[in-house]
Amino acid sequence: MRHFSRLSVVGCYFFALLVLSTGPFSVASEPAKATTLAQTPPMGWNSWNKFACDVSEKLIKETADAMVSSGLQAAGFKFVNIDDCWQVSRDAHGTIVADAERFPSGIKSLADYVHSKGLKLGIYTDAGRMTCQKRPGSYEHEVQDIKTYAEWGVDYVKIDWCYAEGLDPEVQYPKFRDAIAQAGRPIVFSICNWGVKAPWHWGPKTGNLWRTTGDISDKYDSMSLIGFSQNGLESFAGPGQWNDPDMLEVGNGGMDRDEYRTHMALWAILAAPLLAGNDLRNMSQETKDMLTNADVLAVDQDSKGVQGHRVWQEGPLEIWTKPLVGGSLAVGLFNRTEAALKMTVDFKSIGAPAAAKVRDLWAGKELGTLNGSYSSVVPKHGVVFLKISK
Ligand code: GAL
Repeated sequence: MRHFSRLSVVGCYFFALLVLSTGPFSVASEPAKATTLAQTPPMGWNSWNKFACDVSEKLIKETADAMVSSGLQAAGFKFVNIDDCWQVSRDAHGTIVADAERFPSGIKSLADYVHSKGLKLGIYTDAGRMTCQKRPGSYEHEVQDIKTYAEWGVDYVKIDWCYAEGLDPEVQYPKFRDAIAQAGRPIVFSICNWGVKAPWHWGPKTGNLWRTTGDISDKYDSMSLIGFSQNGLESFAGPGQWNDPDMLEVGNGGMDRDEYRTHMALWAILAAPLLAGNDLRNMSQETKDMLTNADVLAVDQDSKGVQGHRVWQEGPLEIWTKPLVGGSLAVGLFNRTEAALKMTVDFKSIGAPAAAKVRDLWAGKELGTLNGSYSSVVPKHGVVFLKISK
């Protein structure tokens, strides 16, 4: 701003216009994050929750095939993401080397295959010295690794935070952002440092999504503790920048139907990234229906891009809302107790009109125009998920 005082009044006017049209001065002076990516929360699949280190090009290709044939692609899922364990070493030039037994054709050829299906490929690394599974990390190889991924045709990178003792995430993660900006390929940047140093404060100018907590597991307690703890983070999310409460466990078998419905509804209200974490090649109809429910996905992907929050709570009973484009509200009535209970949502108290049109999203049923409130029995650990409109 030192030069600012030397500008004429007219110059100031044009300078101000320039700042207004390109964003704040501090951001314009750094290599910018690609703001056109992830305008809605990313949707896809990731290998970790189901397969852990058991990844291979066969699994990734079959998963891409299944994403198409199961209808997930048509429902909006597009990223096929390899998590930890695909990498084994570095060559003499320091270039990262994929496991040749598990990925005999190499990652570039895998990216070509995934792209031929109209899908996108994601990959995983770690900002520290090693990945969590002790594969080579990207520390001091940030630019080189991103360049390699871009050459391979990678579209999404998740960057973990293991073996990063003594490092500062606010220093390390921007190195990848700048490397992505220079690589000349749009790559969605997923920060995975489990909420260390409150990434919602620096994540928006650094990446497209950032994990807010430790790892999810396929249990109601784990999922619900993470999901319901997201209240208060809503102001940091928006198009291109999302809080990430971790990947989905739907279909992995550790929760029942009502618990998985809670998982999906809560993640949709949170405008969370939706990365399926189950075996797409082998899904029950119930799992497929849950993952592809168009009403539920529309809440998550709503173009207003607002993360919802809790509007009412009485102990383990909670009501959350998410404002949608056009003035409608997604409303979740959540019952965290061990027994079915009747819950009531009062329209006025959530800012809905006194006479409102109500749709039950899991039932796929219009309930008509109702006056004042709506009551329903909510199953144990379950949700009644509504869209309330004028
Ligand atoms: C964790 C991360 C998981 C998974 C795992 C791989 O740190 O949170 O989502 O990527 O590492 O080792």
